[in-house]
This record gives sequence, structure tokens and C-alpha cells, in this order.
Amino acid sequence: MKRKVTKAIFPVAGLGTRFLPATKSIPKEIMTLVDRPLIQYAIDEARAAGIKEFIFVTSRGKGALEDYFDHSPELENTLRKKGKTDLLEMLKSTNMDSGAIAYIRQHKALGLGHAVWCARRLLSNEPFAVILPDDVIAADTPCLQQMVEAHAETGGNMVAAMEVPTEKTSAYGVLDIKEDMGSVVSVKGMVEKPDADKAPSNLAVIGRYILTPDVMNHLNRIKSGAGGELQLTDAIAQEITSADNVYGFRFKGQRFDCGSKAGFLQATVAFGLARDDLKDEFQDYLADMMSVRSAAQ
Ligand code: UTP
Repeated sequence: MKRKVTKAIFPVAGLGTRFLPATKSIPKEIMTLVDRPLIQYAIDEARAAGIKEFIFVTSRGKGALEDYFDHSPELENTLRKKGKTDLLEMLKSTNMDSGAIAYIRQHKALGLGHAVWCARRLLSNEPFAVILPDDVIAADTPCLQQMVEAHAETGGNMVAAMEVPTEKTSAYGVLDIKEDMGSVVSVKGMVEKPDADKAPSNLAVIGRYILTPDVMNHLNRIKSGAGGELQLTDAIAQEITSADNVYGFRFKGQRFDCGSKAGFLQATVAFGLARDDLKDEFQDYLADMMSVRSAAQ
């Protein structure tokens, strides 16, 4: 019987250097897209996919992230007294159940694979999800939910993938496709950041994964062998060789790279325009800006 995916790892221990100086004191994942921190989008997506246990791999300076998930009785009381029911409900929807969150520390930023490996003792013999909160995905059906549904059919390891222009492949891990079945592809190889002329396809891996415990075992072996940086891609690639059970999943939705400044700004515009309470004013403002710009040119 296939095991359900109920645990998700959120690696949030990176240094976030592309957002310095903000990330000197604010974890990148707390930065707000409209009015919600990036991490809230990731949590909501995980919940929609049926995740019950949330494992954060954190590091020094991420205290604000842990505080964010504490309940805030004083604030709730004040809102209740003032009759601000909508705000109260919204606040409560961000509360997490006691014991649903675990924090584990990555003592040194030794890469994504290493961050995932740090959570090994919190998993048993079950598939698990990995969500990178700086990849924010706008979708009618949340991306991880789409993946969990597809994974119920395929089993094995699944990585979220999207088509990128050939000249952009060097920024991603790229899939070498064995068989293309539409939204699901089986994979015969993964190439990390290939030059455009060496990319085996245009299908790039982004920050959502459903992985088997074997990937964690590979990370363990690589860790004890090579030392230094641990790449998640290497461990997944080993599964292609040993078990031939790696799939790419073309999700339906739009992904924003909120780990980069340009991506964050694009996401802010897209999410702002999608909000009923903001879109009219915001749209007018953007239209004015564009006409001022074109007049100036
Ligand atoms: P990034 O490649 O975006 O690195 O990590 P970063 O450190 O967060 O940001 P920059 O590049 O310096 O601006 C992708 C994801 O992997 C996590 C990050 O927190 C992010 O969610 N990560 C990365 C770790 O948890 N540990 C690491 O050692 C590296």
C-alpha cells in the first residue's frame, strides 16, 4: 500500500544574501508578499495537500520565523474586544496546532541537500515533501496538492517542473526525459545548471518535491563519503540509477522566484492585482505609471 504524504520539510536555513541588507535581521521567509509572509503561502499550500507535520530547518537569526508561528492571545483578545471579527478569524487561520511544527537547526549553510538531511531523524519510513518557501506558486489547485494527487498514481520520487526558455536553463536543474506522459514525465537524468546547448530539455526543476526515504539514505551515504556541500539533486539522481522511479510533474500555475528581487517584485504585482480589496486602486496606479513612463520615452 502506498503511504500518504503527511510530513513536509521547509528548508529555511539559507543566508538569503540576495536580499541583503534586509536579511541581516529579517529571515527571507518572513518578508511579506502583500500582507502575508512568504512562509504563510508555503504553509497554506502544504495544509491543502494534507500535510500534518511541518519540519523547519532553520539557522541562526531565524527567531522571527519561530515567533511568527506562536499564538498571540493578547492580540486576539484585543481584536475580540474591538469586535474586529474578520481580522480575528484571519489571525486564527494562521495558528498552528501544538506539536505540529518541529524546528531543527542547520548549523552551517552547507546546501539544500544538507538542510534536508538535517531533518532525517524526524522522518520514519515514509515519503515526505520538501517545500522551498521562496518559490511561490499561484494556482487554482495548490501545487503540492496537484503533486500529491499525481504521486498517488506514480509513487516514487516526484519533482515539480516547468518549461523555461532555453537561454534560462543554466539557472536550474534540468530533466532528461525518458517518457513524456503529459503532466507527468519519467526521468532518466538530471543535469544541474547546464549551458543552453547542453540542456537535455527545457523542463526545469523548481522548489517542490515528494521524496522517498531512499533519497534520505543516499544523502546519508553521500554525507559520510564526500563531506562538504550536499546536493539534493545528487541524491535524487541516485534514485534514477538505483530504482528508476523519478518523475517530473508539470504543475498548473505560475511560479515566482521570490528568492530574487525581480521575482519578488513580479509576485507583489501579481498577488496585489489578484486581491479584491486592492486591485482597482493598484491597477489604476500601475496604468498611470506605465503612461508616465511611455510619455517620458
Ligand atoms: P537559495 O539558493 O535561495 O539560497 O536556497 P539562500 O541562502 O536562501 O539565498 P541567497 O542565494 O543567498 O540569496 C534555496 C532554499 O534552500 C534553503 C534556503 O533557505 C532556501 O529556502 N537552504 C539553502 C538551506 O536551508 N540551507 C542551505 O545551506 C542552503
